[in-house]
Amino acid sequence: MTNQKTVLITGGNTGIGKQIALTFAKNNFHVIITSRDASNGEDAAREIIDATKNKNVSCIQGDLSSIKGCYALVEKVKSEISSLQVLINNAGVTMMEKVINEDGFELTFMVNYLAPYILSTGLTPLLKQNNNGRIINVNTSARMQGMGKLNIETTPFGSDFKPGWTYNNTKLANAMMTVTLAEQLLDSGITVNALYPGLYKTKNSTQKLNSIFMRLIMKIIMLREMSLAIAGEAPYQLATDEALTRETGQFFHMKDKSQFTKKVYDPAERALLYRKTIAWLGAAS
Ligand SMILES: NC(=O)c1ccc[n+]([C@@H]2O[C@H](COP(=O)([O-])OP(=O)(O)OC[C@H]3O[C@@H](n4cnc5c(N)ncnc54)[C@H](OP(=O)(O)O)[C@@H]3O)[C@@H](O)[C@H]2O)c1
Repeated sequence: MTNQKTVLITGGNTGIGKQIALTFAKNNFHVIITSRDASNGEDAAREIIDATKNKNVSCIQGDLSSIKGCYALVEKVKSEISSLQVLINNAGVTMMEKVINEDGFELTFMVNYLAPYILSTGLTPLLKQNNNGRIINVNTSARMQGMGKLNIETTPFGSDFKPGWTYNNTKLANAMMTVTLAEQLLDSGITVNALYPGLYKTKNSTQKLNSIFMRLIMKIIMLREMSLAIAGEAPYQLATDEALTRETGQFFHMKDKSQFTKKVYDPAERALLYRKTIAWLGAAS
């Protein structure tokens, strides 16, 4: 028990996150999932315990749709554990309608970009307790990142919102943040990488699309859908493979080391996003 490593997986109550949780539980990790709905999360934790016979699986309720909710989750996690080996920022949304949260941020930007940033920085002290804490951001394919048109003045506040497409802008921001955090944490022993998990039929990937064109595109994309049962394998490898101990600021296309889309490597754009993020969060606190 004392040597058991701990993994925290956001959005672990369903979809890819639940499969990731199952994979870590099978491999004897202490697994903590977060779920915005407490009873969904508890049901999922129970199912994972039944399936794996690993009793060290639990749920912490946390809503990532506001800055306050993200900081509250960080505090709850800190009150329950004193060290963390792996943080998997998995929770994500594809909004089909524009929703602005209580802080003035568009919800996709909040959940897919700001939330992973707040959790990663907030939980850094716990990840530092180990020689090799690992942060993994579940992102999208480099092609979809490349389709992202992140506009720092408009995307965060939803004024350029496009159903479905805003997702790419926010995953591009998430990828840029991955590289920036990796640079900032270089001497801490914590690695920060992003991963495309594969293509699976989940609530997120089968949103109600409001145009025939988008429905057609989605039908074509989903022809390459994979079995959800394998969705935990690539994140598990990235989190545990000894050979990846020093890999940081990298993008993995499932299990293979790959490249982010070109825009991610622009240092000036990344610096601007970072400065703005600090200012937004500073203003909110
Ligand atoms: N499915 C794919 O083919 C695919 C491909 C590329 C990347 N991804 C990425 O994989 C990750 C997991 O997606 P999925 O396909 O497994 O989708 P999913 O089944 O819809 O799961 C998304 C998870 O995020 C949680 N979440 C959403 N908004 C939240 C909020 N405001 N606060 C807290 N939790 C919230 C959901 O909670 P609720 O259950 O309460 O809604 C759920 O647990 C996402 O980052 C997604 O972008 C998926």
